[in-house]
Amino acid sequence: MQQYHRLSSQTAVVTGASQGIGRAIAEQLAKEGMRVFGLSRTAVQSDRIQWIPCDVAQEGSVQAAFAEVFRQTQRVDILVNNAGMGIAGAAEFTPDGDMQRQFQVNVFGAVRCTQAALPAMRRQGGGKILFISSLASVFPIAFQSFYSMSKAALDSFSTALGIECKPFGIQTGTLLLGDVNTGFTQSRKKGMAGDEVYRGRIGRSIEKMERDEQKGMRPEQVAGAACRLLSKRRLPTRRAVGAANGILFFLNRILPSRTVLWVLEKLYG
Ligand SMILES: NC(=O)c1ccc[n+]([C@@H]2O[C@H](COP(=O)([O-])OP(=O)(O)OC[C@H]3O[C@@H](n4cnc5c(N)ncnc54)[C@H](OP(=O)(O)O)[C@@H]3O)[C@@H](O)[C@H]2O)c1
Repeated sequence: MQQYHRLSSQTAVVTGASQGIGRAIAEQLAKEGMRVFGLSRTAVQSDRIQWIPCDVAQEGSVQAAFAEVFRQTQRVDILVNNAGMGIAGAAEFTPDGDMQRQFQVNVFGAVRCTQAALPAMRRQGGGKILFISSLASVFPIAFQSFYSMSKAALDSFSTALGIECKPFGIQTGTLLLGDVNTGFTQSRKKGMAGDEVYRGRIGRSIEKMERDEQKGMRPEQVAGAACRLLSKRRLPTRRAVGAANGILFFLNRILPSRTVLWVLEKLYG
């Protein structure tokens, strides 16, 4: 039987809390009675969440945001590294600046926030860090190669960090999401360069991913799953959200890689 921790009276920091999944997670944690700080570049419109401006791609901005958190409270019990964006297009034609940006936000942004939260977690004798990842980390998506790489990097970081910090009582885990209907689809930076060379496959793949996302889960469903995981005594190392995604994640472990590759080619290739 699972043991659950009370989340109330703890402190959480959620990055990317101005909209979508981060906003829903922050709201849900606040409803559970937590004190919640929401970090993002645009303001978080909520009475329950305390907004602190932060661009996770800027080291100084992350340091200033966490200095403000620690000015107001001594603790960070939960950090949800959710802030993220996506780029799409052919790997061959992706400009250097776009690929750097993908990693600055999704990977190094999460690393910076983690580094800022760890000293307090160590001092207080524990904490939980949840990384919002994607099924793309285990099923790399054609024409979203840099996004898939960024989420795979997060998964590796979470696992290695969990081992490093276990003696301090700090737990890490990744939440693997499938399609979720949020503003992510509109915000994605789409690169159509080379579409003629690739015979229209870039455009068709991007259109399919956009359609799938718009038919995806609601962010509140993801928030419910995230809060259930965070309230467990032991944070699972990796968990897919939704029954169908859980089955996909399991199939990836047992099916021959040739079969998985065939499916990935059919879907997005
Ligand atoms: N939607 C999906 O289908 C899906 C699937 C799998 C995984 N995910 C992951 O879920 C997470 C949340 O995505 P979402 O769907 O909720 O997207 P969203 O609606 O576009 O929200 C993204 C959030 O990240 C914040 N953000 C982006 N760049 C930032 C930066 N440089 N500094 C600080 N905050 C930044 C945005 O806030 P500001 O713009 O105000 O800064 C916003 O609050 C992402 O990590 C994404 O990769 C999404």
